[in-house]
Amino acid sequence: MEEILGIEKISKEFSGVRVLNDVSVGIGRGEIMGLIGENGAGKSTLIKIICGVYQPSSGSLRIQGKPAAIPDYITAKKLGISMVPQEFNLINTLTVYENIFLGNEFRLKSGLLDKPKMRRLAAKQLEELRMPVGVNHLVSRLSVAEKQMVEISKALMLHSKLLIMDEPTTTLTGHEVETLFNLMRDLKNQGVTMIFVSHKLGEIKAICNRVTVLRDGNLISVDEVSQVNEEDIARKMIGRTDFRQIFPPKINRAADTVVLDVKDLSIKGLLNNVSFSLRKGEILGFAGLVGSGRTELAEAVMGLRQISAGIISLADKGARKNAVQIKKPAAAVELGLGYLSEDRQGKGIVQGFNLPQNITLISLKEYLRGMFINKKAELEKTKEYIKTFRIAAASYKLALRYLSGGNQQKIYLSRWLDTKPSILILDEPTRGIDVNAKQEIYEFVHQLAEQGISCWVISSELEEIIGLCSRVYVMKEGSVAGCLEGSHINEEEIMFHATGISVCP
Ligand SMILES: Nc1ncnc2c1ncn2[C@@H]1O[C@H](COP(=O)(O)OP(=O)(O)OP(=O)(O)O)[C@@H](O)[C@H]1O
Ligand SMILES: [Mg+2]
Repeated sequence: MEEILGIEKISKEFSGVRVLNDVSVGIGRGEIMGLIGENGAGKSTLIKIICGVYQPSSGSLRIQGKPAAIPDYITAKKLGISMVPQEFNLINTLTVYENIFLGNEFRLKSGLLDKPKMRRLAAKQLEELRMPVGVNHLVSRLSVAEKQMVEISKALMLHSKLLIMDEPTTTLTGHEVETLFNLMRDLKNQGVTMIFVSHKLGEIKAICNRVTVLRDGNLISVDEVSQVNEEDIARKMIGRTDFRQIFPPKINRAADTVVLDVKDLSIKGLLNNVSFSLRKGEILGFAGLVGSGRTELAEAVMGLRQISAGIISLADKGARKNAVQIKKPAAAVELGLGYLSEDRQGKGIVQGFNLPQNITLISLKEYLRGMFINKKAELEKTKEYIKTFRIAAASYKLALRYLSGGNQQKIYLSRWLDTKPSILILDEPTRGIDVNAKQEIYEFVHQLAEQGISCWVISSELEEIIGLCSRVYVMKEGSVAGCLEGSHINEEEIMFHATGISVCP
């Protein structure tokens, strides 16, 4: 096999902390190499070194057998390397097509931008991805899944020899993942080489030829995917043999008080007459395709969107239901609601704040002593969350931008837990979380429910919905298409309601 990229004894240190240790691996032309490892294992760092975003502390790279220096991303692009980053690099105030061509604009002979050509090509690319996003839309108005597709289009537009994708599927549902995989197979047939990072072992098995496992910055193995099963990969990742992805037993709350009751909620063009109820201490799931309205519904309840009709009622301490008007998120928080957004980067964490500052952002008043913040209490709480979720960070003083994606997500989850909500909405809570840490989050959600906290889980991962929730609403095109309980919570029935298509076994 002709080698496209050679990684030779690459190490990387950040202020004395080693995050990659002597990693060597070769990648052949036209192969799809999976790259997997726990949160903080060093995947994104390795990718950024290949793309010139970071320089290695030692070691070297080869492109088609020749030593190559890649001082920056522009050089990487010239060498035929492009990347879909884990955290989006899009500019919110620009349109979709402007973002796609940013830095690679087409110009007319006159030197002016060839906007029609760029619009046309961008539209074509998005159509191939089956993502109906208008090329003239502002990026700020897109959902995370749509932003993801824009990032993918942007990388594809460069027609690279080596396309590196850092967790491109985290925000996508099964359908969209399939579309992306089809596209990847086409590219592969055209001789394009790909590196694909995912925490979903099934995806690695489905699309990759080989898989590289990193653990704590060390290369553990490089295997043909046909030679290993999902469990083998997980074991190599976590370095233990007792790996099993298990969900805690389900909690039945059929007889419990309804704490949140939504009747005929509508938002013009987005939601039509949505009604549902949430019981005390239950784990309620919301399934559906991207764009089916699950996030918009949560945002409406949180006062982030104006509703055109409908009644939201909350139970008071005496369990009487009272209709409430929630006009802004602060009011929702005051009423005991919490919302972990699916868009942790856009609507969640503060990149420049350190760990304690991010965690206590909303619950800060609990830490005030007069005019001062009780830093000791804040720090103790932070350490507790670091321990509970095994958050990997060299120091709690680090700004969040220096944490790996999965660890940022854990901090964001901690923030909402620290508000001690009575109703917690979790929108894609395990986005970017490795298989091992997922289990801890599931256990934790389960514990919350046992304490009587009502958890409303929105997830595109069917496995998560099926394993965790005792009742599931399935949304389709802005409406509730079905409500499932007990043994009806299975893949076929959920997909039937989500798409209207019946899948016969
Ligand atoms: N610029 C930086 N400064 C300091 N530390 C950093 C920096 N970038 C990454 N790190 C640290 O390097 C380690 C590896 O991070 P990396 O982002 O490569 O992990 P990852 O394998 O991609 O994890 P995830 O699955 O969560 O995305 C982490 O401990 C992270 O905190
Ligand atoms: Mg990463």
